[in-house]
Amino acid sequence: MVSSIVIVIFIIGIIVMVTKDSLAVVNPADNKMISKDLHKRDEIKIKRNDSSKYPGLNLQTETKESEIYTSSIKLPSTSYDSINEPIHKWVKQQEDEFAKEIELNKDFLKDDFRAHLNIHLDTEKITDNIYNLMFYKYEIAGGANGINTTKSFTIDLKQESILELDDIIELNDESLQVIQEKIKSKLINDEGISLYLVEELLDEILQSPENWEWSINKDDLTIYFNEYEIAAGAAGDISTNISLKEINPFLKNYILESLDFVREPTKNEIIEQKEKEEEGANLDPNGKYVALTFDDGPSQTVTPRILKILKENEAKATFFMLGSQVDYYPTIAKQVADEGHEVANHTENHVDLTVADVGKIKQEINDANEKIQKATGYWPTAVRPPYGAYDQNVVDVVSNNEHSIIMWSVDSLDWKSRNAAAVNEVILRDIVPGSIVLMHDIHESTADALSKLLSELKQRGYEFITVSQLLSLQDKNGVGPHYGTLNY
Ligand code: NI
Repeated sequence: MVSSIVIVIFIIGIIVMVTKDSLAVVNPADNKMISKDLHKRDEIKIKRNDSSKYPGLNLQTETKESEIYTSSIKLPSTSYDSINEPIHKWVKQQEDEFAKEIELNKDFLKDDFRAHLNIHLDTEKITDNIYNLMFYKYEIAGGANGINTTKSFTIDLKQESILELDDIIELNDESLQVIQEKIKSKLINDEGISLYLVEELLDEILQSPENWEWSINKDDLTIYFNEYEIAAGAAGDISTNISLKEINPFLKNYILESLDFVREPTKNEIIEQKEKEEEGANLDPNGKYVALTFDDGPSQTVTPRILKILKENEAKATFFMLGSQVDYYPTIAKQVADEGHEVANHTENHVDLTVADVGKIKQEINDANEKIQKATGYWPTAVRPPYGAYDQNVVDVVSNNEHSIIMWSVDSLDWKSRNAAAVNEVILRDIVPGSIVLMHDIHESTADALSKLLSELKQRGYEFITVSQLLSLQDKNGVGPHYGTLNY
């Protein structure tokens, strides 16, 4: 009685299958059907002028159904075999493995339930040409639990290729160490993961970046670990993000350009740059030097006036620029750097950093540095906090960037007096060798004062160098804060 019911259900099942989906293959024992279908795929021609939301990418869903299994597979295609073949090969592998599992569990499946394979796809557009294709596979072919697997392909339609990790990141000892440490510390500090983490397994995988499962978008590099790969099953599949900003110095030009990023120097490069400035300055250790500094620019009218006067007097100065101003006047910023002055960081938006959290402090400083680097080709290492306001968080962030905090010993009060004669009176009264003088290249009155100021100071034997040169001469390194002579 029971067996005849089963047979009836079986027959109904076949009829339903055939009517529902003409692609379905009726003979459940024939696992070769999977590879037959793949031959069809090779003939799929994709045209670029399609109606896809993702230009250059097309998608089809293949569903199959038999008495012992069901499957649903998303299959993306491009116009390029160099991209399609590896992706389709991976999909076929999954199908083949699934077919093997079905074969193993055939008897069980007939009696109990149908196996299922589901491969779905998340498509993320990174740039006009770069996409991330993230496959999520769920397979259940017997056993109590299904298995989740993730697989990522990052493709570049312009290059007609699938990107490897070393297309994106300069993989060397330094970069690997930084990335490995970041991955590890994120996983260890994640309470939901650390409990189940098997560090030996993680360490082993981290040693071979060629086997990492990864993806990128505009903000992050994501590393994926499958279930059981680095942790007990209870943790499930695991992924962790590293901000591209954190690994910016190791990003390859190709990806920097694609994402419109600026390459930041590594810590070692910053230290080297500082050493070069020290050597290159060729200064007299007993010279009578001061550092003139100009904040809050570049401005459209005042900065060019100041540059002209500095040039006439063969004076070098330091310009603490706002990223937001550099964004408006990149060519003036570049002129400052080209004429041999030091370009320095006065944050992006003139925020009081003592009321900002660490994330905001980092962002304010980093955004300005990026704009300045983009405009001038120079990565500032000197930071002057707006209003001269800093706290331990600011010191920590600046120190961690291998930058220095630069204050001042002579305040021209130009922002207050807006009067050329008053500006000169204050400076000429207070200045001594080694002074750092605070001015602003946004007030016409400051530009009005400068010519007379420089000739008077030159008469007194002063020479004008950049802040970094002054500090190197005084053997003052590190985060500071550095004030100039009054405080030493
Ligand atoms: Ni300011």
